[in-house]
Amino acid sequence: MTEQTPVNTQTAVKALPDAQTVTEVTHWTDRLFSFRCTRPASLRFRSGEFVMIGLMGDPDPKTGKQKPLLRAYSIASPSWDDELEFYSIKVQDGPLTSKLQHIQPGEQIILRPKPVGTLVHDALLPGKRLWFFATGTGFAPFASLLRDPQTFEDYEQVIITHTCRDVAELEYGRRLVEHIRTDEMMGELLGQENLGKLTYYPTTTREESLRMGRITTLLEDGTLFADLGIDGMSPDTDRAMVCGSLGLNTDLKAILESFGLEEGANSDPKHYVVEKAFVG
Ligand code: A2P
Repeated sequence: MTEQTPVNTQTAVKALPDAQTVTEVTHWTDRLFSFRCTRPASLRFRSGEFVMIGLMGDPDPKTGKQKPLLRAYSIASPSWDDELEFYSIKVQDGPLTSKLQHIQPGEQIILRPKPVGTLVHDALLPGKRLWFFATGTGFAPFASLLRDPQTFEDYEQVIITHTCRDVAELEYGRRLVEHIRTDEMMGELLGQENLGKLTYYPTTTREESLRMGRITTLLEDGTLFADLGIDGMSPDTDRAMVCGSLGLNTDLKAILESFGLEEGANSDPKHYVVEKAFVG
């Protein structure tokens, strides 16, 4: 593993029409980082959607040609932001993130400006209470949705749960929620009176913290509802968006279905939607 970004990657990316410039990089832990980059003027997206981003791959040993190495990343910034933000895992032997984690401000990434995804308001029927269930970097689409005024206009209560292995991995989400609650501009944008609608429920599974356990366990044994003073979930009132590992998504889907909630899509809005957080 080298700490350097390959020199020829930068030269090649600059020639591409989809290149964007990195403006800021934050390393949260040795497994997690976030970065911001310029936004193509023409890029419009709905909060919660993802785009394909990446770098040029290594040259083919035979032909010397380089191909873009792209992965789906949820846009973590709100749609009104001038820049784009992404929140990523670092996988030391992952084809893309082993390189992407070393990106520096001023360097370029490839961004295909075609946003898509199911974690959007349009895929849910109107409801009273909106649940965001995130594990790990699955917080990213909700970082966008939590800064979207529609989230607070459409619902009476918004609950975000975030489960990570340890406390340090919660920090990106914790800071975002704190920013929403305390920043004057956020208060004006979302409506100061709406901020009380937001409940943040962080849990850890491998380090001691105020609340411990997988969110699936806390849902099944009723701890989550007892903690929040809620009677459970019903398709009449509750809507949910889920973003985490494949295992989390599968397990949570089964739990939501047990409450009578049905999976929705852009073309067929229902009670909940699911998307896999990027890994690799
Ligand atoms: P655990 O520590 O018990 O595996 P990761 O960092 O591996 O993506 O995991 C993020 C968080 O998601 C961890 O706290 C992990 O708990 C939790 N998690 C992983 N798989 C599931 C699952 N199937 N159901 C609920 N939580 C899960």
